[in-house]
Amino acid sequence: MNYFILPSKAARLIVLQRIELIGPFFKKLRKLFGRYIFSNFITKYFLKSELIGKKYHSIMIDEFSTIKKFIKEEDKLFLSIGGGMGGLEVIINQSLDNKNYSFIERNYVSKKVKYGWGGKINDEAYNNLSVQKNFLQMNGMQNSQINIFDYDKDSLPVTKFDVIISLLSLDYHYDFEVYMDYLKKVCKSDTKIIFDTIRADYFIKVFKNVEVIKTQENTVHKSKRVLCSNFLD
Ligand SMILES: C[S@@+](CC[C@H](N)C(=O)[O-])C[C@H]1O[C@@H](n2cnc3c(N)ncnc32)[C@H](O)[C@@H]1O
Repeated sequence: MNYFILPSKAARLIVLQRIELIGPFFKKLRKLFGRYIFSNFITKYFLKSELIGKKYHSIMIDEFSTIKKFIKEEDKLFLSIGGGMGGLEVIINQSLDNKNYSFIERNYVSKKVKYGWGGKINDEAYNNLSVQKNFLQMNGMQNSQINIFDYDKDSLPVTKFDVIISLLSLDYHYDFEVYMDYLKKVCKSDTKIIFDTIRADYFIKVFKNVEVIKTQENTVHKSKRVLCSNFLD
């Protein structure tokens, strides 16, 4: 299958999470009507779900190609921080058997979506956790594989993960510090943390191993995708 099946309301959230999905026509509307009307009205009523499902799938296939060689058969426990709808994890699940996925996400859409750098003030969000769960199940993930945690309300899972992924979220829109102590608790020395950052060099002081696996010039912020492991302290 080269598309995702989208539950109702998912297209709008996916577009807010992946703004590169909108074509020139919607970009013009966003400019013309402003972010508030775009995020709360235009994306609610005028998107074609089927088309978004196809485009989102193709982006997630590309994203998977940047990380798949680093994932090993023995990696079982995956944690996704700000995974959005979870398209990447669906692709991982379709390619590799017997994995378990935990997601830490947020359960609201900001009034005016701004794709800035919030630093330690981290209040931008564009997700709905029940829509996300439906999306994962509709695209082949078993209920027993899915654990979703609301960053603002739930106790976060304390288990040693094998792979932690955060694309266009941690250290892209908000400071890594927001999760630093938590990540130290849930990482083994060989846990792979993959995330997009606007300051890759900073992490040489944080981890023993830092590898740049992708350079991104065309995203909202210029960034690098890094694979890190083994916290220095
Ligand atoms: C730009 S989107 C990227 C989504 C997805 N990773 C992707 O690549 O399509 C950023 C996501 O981070 C989520 N987010 C914001 N703050 C968060 C936090 N403190 N913890 C977890 N997720 C967060 C937002 O709700 C949003 O879904």
